[in-house]
Amino acid sequence: MTRIAMLAMHHLERCLLLEARSDPHPWGKMNWLRSLRDDHCLGLWDGDELLGISCYTLVLDDVSLLNIVVDTNSRGRGAGRQLLSEGLEWMQQFGGARCLLEVRESNTVARSLYTKLGFAEDGIRKNYYPLGDGYEHAVLMSADLPLGE
Ligand SMILES: CC(C)(COP(=O)(O)OP(=O)(O)OC[C@H]1O[C@@H](n2cnc3c(N)ncnc32)[C@H](O)[C@@H]1OP(=O)(O)O)[C@@H](O)C(=O)NCCC(=O)NCCS
Repeated sequence: MTRIAMLAMHHLERCLLLEARSDPHPWGKMNWLRSLRDDHCLGLWDGDELLGISCYTLVLDDVSLLNIVVDTNSRGRGAGRQLLSEGLEWMQQFGGARCLLEVRESNTVARSLYTKLGFAEDGIRKNYYPLGDGYEHAVLMSADLPLGE
């Protein structure tokens, strides 16, 4: 039985470990330290095993998705969908009425997840994300809360 729970500073090493083996564009230690301190970072747990993480920030009633990552060993089984849909229910409790996010144009898996959960594309931020040999566009997406699938 999986459950969503708030992450705290003492989970830093678990976050770094999961990210190191599962995220092609890792945040790094300083960002995790700041986000665990200042944002809403939620873990998806199966017993003691951390399956995935999503982090959000709230400005007025706008929730921004800062990060979402599922352990490579746990992908394709609904963990990402659960993390985001339950994470946004969590953020509604704090007054969130809309979720905004940006995603690499080449990240078709994440874009498909967001579209399935009801996010629509609002625009493009050109040459936003660094690549090895240049930049790629960010796709901007948003959805009203609660999500309607
Ligand atoms: C994006 C990510 C969180 C999805 O996690 P996941 O647990 O594998 O996703 P789920 O199993 O819940 O699948 C949800 C949807 O994602 C899409 N999806 C998942 N795996 C996919 C694949 N291999 N190919 C295409 N679409 C896929 C599908 O739309 C799927 O819906 P469906 O099950 O109805 O087909 C995961 O791939 C990840 O951690 N990627 C690396 C970090 C990242 O890119 N984060 C996004 C930053 S903006």
